[in-house]
Amino acid sequence: MTSRVIPVAPFVLVVFGATGDLARRKLLPAMFQRDAAGQLPEAARIIAVARGRTDQAAYLVQARKAIETHVPAHERGEEVVARFMGRISYIAAEAESDKGWVELKAALAALSGCINVFYLATGPALFGPICERLGRFGLSGGNARVVVEKPVGKDGASARALNEAIGRVFPEERVYRIDHYLGKETVQNLMALRFANGLFEPLWNAAHIDHVQITVAESLGVEGRAGYYDTAGALRDMVQNHILQLLCLVAMEPPARLDADSVRDEKLKVLRALKPIADALSSHTVVRGQYRAGAAAGGPVVGYLDELGAGGSATETFVAIKAEVENWRWAGVPFYLRTGKRLAERVSDIVITFRPVPHSVFDESAGPIEPNRLVIRLQPDEGVQLWLMIKDPGPGGMRLRKVPMDMSFATAFGVRNPDAYERLVLDVVRGNQTLFMRRDEVEAAWAWIDPILDAWSQAAEPPKPYTAGTWGPSGSIALIERDGRTWMDGGA
Ligand code: BG6
Repeated sequence: MTSRVIPVAPFVLVVFGATGDLARRKLLPAMFQRDAAGQLPEAARIIAVARGRTDQAAYLVQARKAIETHVPAHERGEEVVARFMGRISYIAAEAESDKGWVELKAALAALSGCINVFYLATGPALFGPICERLGRFGLSGGNARVVVEKPVGKDGASARALNEAIGRVFPEERVYRIDHYLGKETVQNLMALRFANGLFEPLWNAAHIDHVQITVAESLGVEGRAGYYDTAGALRDMVQNHILQLLCLVAMEPPARLDADSVRDEKLKVLRALKPIADALSSHTVVRGQYRAGAAAGGPVVGYLDELGAGGSATETFVAIKAEVENWRWAGVPFYLRTGKRLAERVSDIVITFRPVPHSVFDESAGPIEPNRLVIRLQPDEGVQLWLMIKDPGPGGMRLRKVPMDMSFATAFGVRNPDAYERLVLDVVRGNQTLFMRRDEVEAAWAWIDPILDAWSQAAEPPKPYTAGTWGPSGSIALIERDGRTWMDGGA
């Protein structure tokens, strides 16, 4: 396979929240990788902005450490590291006062002719104040784009308020709401699989598909992010964005083209067709859980409340939902969604289970005929498996057995899988919004989530406990087994 590197136009990436976790773990390493690949033009610059607890020299030490920690040694030659460090400058500025903004404006003026990408790697509370200042200091003009991280809000009303605040300064076509799942290689492969192959589309509907499972399981806990996580929980942190976006890509109609609005129009229709969850307290539809001490990620681990270290909490670290898309294509096909922290393993996949054959021509001795399954593995080990029934090879009569047609992308192509942020940040520079969430999409997703949050806020019962290192509370298993189906742990 050939990988192609198409250089982008000169740009300045201004990172607000530059000393934070996201900047150090994701943004700097992603930009470094693109630099190493030769994709950054000579004029590309990064301006790191944070509240002034550091200075240029100290920031460069931090940035170098971030690269050393998050980029494997064999992928970082000293020459590229030096070139990359030379692109970074640091400015101390505040989001909620004018301190540092004149300096920022001057720094950008000195780099005129570049596309300005303002990346708000901060909490959502600062989105409004930063945008307001970008406008007031004359930095939001034609070549400027703003990137905001999830969560956009904590419910529909706060999302609308944030979108209003951003929209007062930036027109929608220059607002990039990141959902990093859309930048994952396999997620884009889902579109290739569906729309570049004639094989699946005729079968991609309720007549041929029995149900869909989407699992995003993590073995890690909240990892020092308990302060944020406890205000969010699994539903806001993962379902409102990542999981619903995956559901949209599975369920949407083929867009006429791959341009941003054609794709986003189709995703929006799916979100609007989601059947409202009438009773989120019924364990037949929604199950929420919270982990207790157990063993995960290779050793004993404490429970969520101990990790949080402060009193009680009704925040869910696991959620499973039976969702339905009410339209002609999907009527009656359940979409079982689940995600959680401290589960048995780190695995994210989408499993499409086709309907069983209408009649078996085989004797009972041949064994059961299992329905075909298409498994799209997002991580780890990205790939696609198609499970088929075959005759068990060799003598012994006709005995049936299921086997996967297995394509592991790493093995098949032997290329490094770029991190989602590498593609997404450069898509902002390219002005391509296809893999970003439009305002109406975010708000439609909240419209489906809000009633669940409302019901939980009135609930007398806390989330169901589950032992760390398992697949979540037993109610999650009951949620699907009640319908005569089973979670496909590990895809098959
Ligand atoms: C983030 C969530 O958006 O996605 C985290 O806030 C979660 O809680 C992470 O761990 C998972 O991302 P990935 O790419 O590791 O699957």
